[in-house]
Amino acid sequence: MAEDPFADLKKRQREMWASFAPTATFTTPVAAKLVNFAQLKPGDEVLDVATGTGVVAITAARAGAKVSALDLTPELIEAARENGQVAGHEEITWSVGDAEQLPYPDATFDVVLSQFGHMFAPRPDVTIAEMRRVLKPGGRVAFATWPPEHLVGRMFALIGRHSPPPPGAAPPPQWGNPAIVTERLAPHFEAPFFGRAAMYFPALSIPHFRLFMERSIGPMQKLVESYASDPAKLAGLRGEFEALVAPYYVDNLMQQQFLLTRAQAR
Ligand SMILES: C[S@@+](CC[C@H](N)C(=O)[O-])C[C@H]1O[C@@H](n2cnc3c(N)ncnc32)[C@H](O)[C@@H]1O
Repeated sequence: MAEDPFADLKKRQREMWASFAPTATFTTPVAAKLVNFAQLKPGDEVLDVATGTGVVAITAARAGAKVSALDLTPELIEAARENGQVAGHEEITWSVGDAEQLPYPDATFDVVLSQFGHMFAPRPDVTIAEMRRVLKPGGRVAFATWPPEHLVGRMFALIGRHSPPPPGAAPPPQWGNPAIVTERLAPHFEAPFFGRAAMYFPALSIPHFRLFMERSIGPMQKLVESYASDPAKLAGLRGEFEALVAPYYVDNLMQQQFLLTRAQAR
């Protein structure tokens, strides 16, 4: 098998995302929206790509689907397995793995889901081809993704300006742009259907939100760590971050929209 040109990036991502678990409180309500939007039927074979702590996988299992889920980060798969046990869904199959190299045979699933997950795999064409490969004929994908013009998309753009990704890696928020998503899906899927919904992060103040992101969003955490010996740079980054998120802070909530995408395989 050819060597993965993004092996180093994925190794770094595996370390970065290990602290993500507290943020899953805020992605939990989104999981219910994605599962509804995906129109799952009881008995559907479903794959959750980049499952994190398993919020989509467990919600899909509760809707009656037979669920497999994978994530790059072993610590998160451990947390997901524990969540599955607590929720009474020991039957979910959890795997450590890469969205660009799915460890499943061709034509295994009725539905492939990904919530704020596959968007971090560096090669969209490879990821989409893999998702299509593991889908049965007529199966579908459904995604929740952060658009570039909203809070999290702009936060990842800020991180990318301070700490550029390796050449050839697609910026994650492009997965929140319907025109780009349509183009990426076109080789393997019918024209997508889009929706939008809102998500909320409770926060006592803007600095509280910044601190939370610095502690639980790996790419932000690593960037802050890398500026630890340069107070001026760190203060600049924090100032930029707080100015960026301020417009989204209403009623003690960071509020933003996300994009929903659903598309049927050709
Ligand atoms: C923002 S978290 C979302 C987790 C979960 N889907 C949720 O909504 O709570 C992003 C996840 O993508 C995973 N990830 C990043 N790159 C990946 C890749 N190439 N393959 C599989 N998972 C990946 C990370 O380990 C992390 O769990």
